[in-house]
Amino acid sequence: MTNAAPDSDNAAALQRAYYDRTAAEYDTAHLYEGCQHDVALGYMTPLFEALDIRTVLDVGTGTGRTLRALQANPKLDVIGVEPVRALLDKAVDAGAPPTALVQGSGFHLPFPDNSFDAVVEVAVLHHVPDPSPIVAEMLRVARRAVFVDDDNRFGRGRLSSRLVKLAIYRAGLWPAFWKAKTRGKGYQYTDDDGISYSYSVYDSLPALAEWADRVVLVPTGIENGTSWLHPLLSNPHVLLCAVKGEPRLPWLRLGTLA
Ligand SMILES: C[S@@+](CC[C@H](N)C(=O)[O-])C[C@H]1O[C@@H](n2cnc3c(N)ncnc32)[C@H](O)[C@@H]1O
Repeated sequence: MTNAAPDSDNAAALQRAYYDRTAAEYDTAHLYEGCQHDVALGYMTPLFEALDIRTVLDVGTGTGRTLRALQANPKLDVIGVEPVRALLDKAVDAGAPPTALVQGSGFHLPFPDNSFDAVVEVAVLHHVPDPSPIVAEMLRVARRAVFVDDDNRFGRGRLSSRLVKLAIYRAGLWPAFWKAKTRGKGYQYTDDDGISYSYSVYDSLPALAEWADRVVLVPTGIENGTSWLHPLLSNPHVLLCAVKGEPRLPWLRLGTLA
């Protein structure tokens, strides 16, 4: 891991202990209808159809929430990878087929290059000190599309604070600022979410844009005011869709409409 906080081993152990402790209640505590991840799935799934996606990898599948939702589509073959055994056991209890689950880390995905049409992550990247190696792994194993459904620090707080955060980030001072804010730890701990780091899907935008032909950003949380810089400055949760090639629907032949 690069750029990890000095006590990141301790943080990883704390996070692991948090999931071991809360796995049994994870679904009741985190899954509710209409949450930002449901909104993201609603935007993502029609794109699967239009991109002719057949195989999907869900990185950090946890209790298999996304995996189970996607498996409802018989056209999709979905695999979930997850490091925490207690969460995988819970995924099986909740109905995920054991053969669709692999214990492993996003830092070293146990799959060859280009093995999946689409690779998805939901709420994983704000739980690691440096998401870049996981994003690089997702791009390595993906053929057509990568979906990042996660936090956007710039869309949270009062407008003045959102603008200040953006200015600090653009000046290259965000890591130092965040470290001071968290008193040297580099992470926060809450009973709701365990250990979390400061993350925005925009941090991963350059890597995803270099890989893809197009990147589409979809606001998925509750809108935080209005802004011409939307959703960067107006939404705390964003779905980033990085796509190679163009979506096509068999019944829509745009070239013939002129
Ligand atoms: C907030 S949970 C989200 C779980 C699931 N994606 C969902 O939406 O319900 C964060 C997940 O990231 C997983 N995670 C943390 N570090 C990871 C890593 N290095 N590689 C893969 N997954 C990781 C955790 O074990 C946990 O399952």
